Amino acid sequence: MKIVVLGGDGYCGWATALYLSGRGQTVAIVDNLIRRQWDRDLGVETLTPIRTLAERVAVWNRSAANPIEVFEGDVTDYGFLSSMFREFRPEALVHFAEQRSAPYSMIDREHAVFTQSNNVLGTLNVLFAIKEFQPECHLVKLGTMGEYGTPNIDIEEGYIEIEHNGRKDTLPFPKQPGSFYHLTKVHDSHNISFACRIWGLRATDLNQGVVYGTVTDETARDEAFVNRFDYDEIFGTVLNRFCVQAAVGFPLTVYGKGGQTRGYLDIRDTVRCVELACLNPAAKGECRVYNQFTEQFSVLDLAHLVQAAGRKLGIEVAVQHLPDPRVEAEQHYYNAKHAKLADLGLQPHLLSESLLDSLMNIAVRYRDRIDQSLFLPRVNWRQPVNRRQPKEEMATAGAAK
Ligand SMILES: NC(=O)c1ccc[n+]([C@@H]2O[C@H](COP(=O)([O-])OP(=O)(O)OC[C@H]3O[C@@H](n4cnc5c(N)ncnc54)[C@H](O)[C@@H]3O)[C@@H](O)[C@H]2O)c1
Repeated sequence: MKIVVLGGDGYCGWATALYLSGRGQTVAIVDNLIRRQWDRDLGVETLTPIRTLAERVAVWNRSAANPIEVFEGDVTDYGFLSSMFREFRPEALVHFAEQRSAPYSMIDREHAVFTQSNNVLGTLNVLFAIKEFQPECHLVKLGTMGEYGTPNIDIEEGYIEIEHNGRKDTLPFPKQPGSFYHLTKVHDSHNISFACRIWGLRATDLNQGVVYGTVTDETARDEAFVNRFDYDEIFGTVLNRFCVQAAVGFPLTVYGKGGQTRGYLDIRDTVRCVELACLNPAAKGECRVYNQFTEQFSVLDLAHLVQAAGRKLGIEVAVQHLPDPRVEAEQHYYNAKHAKLADLGLQPHLLSESLLDSLMNIAVRYRDRIDQSLFLPRVNWRQPVNRRQPKEEMATAGAAK
């Protein structure tokens, strides 16, 4: 199968591109490398020393049956996207290429506007390109479980049957996103579903939980393939940050009460879920939604798991509760369905089995690269920075782009 991975230089995209290539698919990576630029702009760095895209792909291609092709460019540039489609002719398109940090989108007006234009317009271009050049191509789009928010009822997989005033219908599950970033995913979902309805495109919207872990069978093959491990307050996820904090004996920074519960999955399950979606494409005109996570944890659950893992390594770790910089429920009901990928054959890796090997050990191994000044939250949902600068002076990603 010819599969293009948009965002293939990123955390999920890199692991996915290698996995699919290793499983015999013909893979192309599309990326404009802007994530590396955002890191530089914000003064943050992945814990693991990742190589340039050119270097890591060159090393992979030395031993790959089908070399990975690279198209460097911006998904919001329709001319670029069109030429990629004409040249590569993908049968499946996996779309990871978005600005994916909630705090980044909440920094100020410029970052919110940039996030929304990058993500929403990029996906809109993808839909038009599929329609124009490859209408049979199956879109596998990464959404997020954060689209649903935390309703006081069970979360279904995309759709819910509703009875209202004596009539019944199956409708999209209500969305209550918690940041301008999460809102982009909701807008994307609507655009994708609309394009399937009017043009007969085929799409799978993967509402992914928080991904953890950095090691997959492929990335472990050579130091050149090492994947990202983000722990800073903007791009880092809570579990990564806790592991890195534990590695240097810094008290784990729990926001508020720590009852915020979400779905989580191992990076090895992300790549498998994407493969399962590609191998079992949606029908023409169908917009499927799968909830892509394997286990639920509250922030406090994670803190306690990391404390216990630290103890096994001889590290004592304290927990500190900080005022929650986000506007979110700190304690709530949460029960999200996640059966459809398991029905297709997903066999989950559990956090209890990988916390030491894929997280804590990595944090300890790269301890010298840890920058403790990146731990504490500075972005506040209630008080976005009001820059009021003239456009030409903005040193933001939007301006850099
Ligand atoms: N990492 C997670 O825990 C997680 C959880 C749920 C959903 N997701 C979704 O999965 C996707 C990938 O996440 P990630 O963690 O790998 O992010 P990432 O930031 O590591 O990777 C995203 C990649 O996309 C590229 N990109 C962004 N905008 C682009 C554009 N306009 N044109 C071309 N390339 C562009 C970036 O350069 C980067 O390499 C995102 O859409 C994210 O919302 C991730």
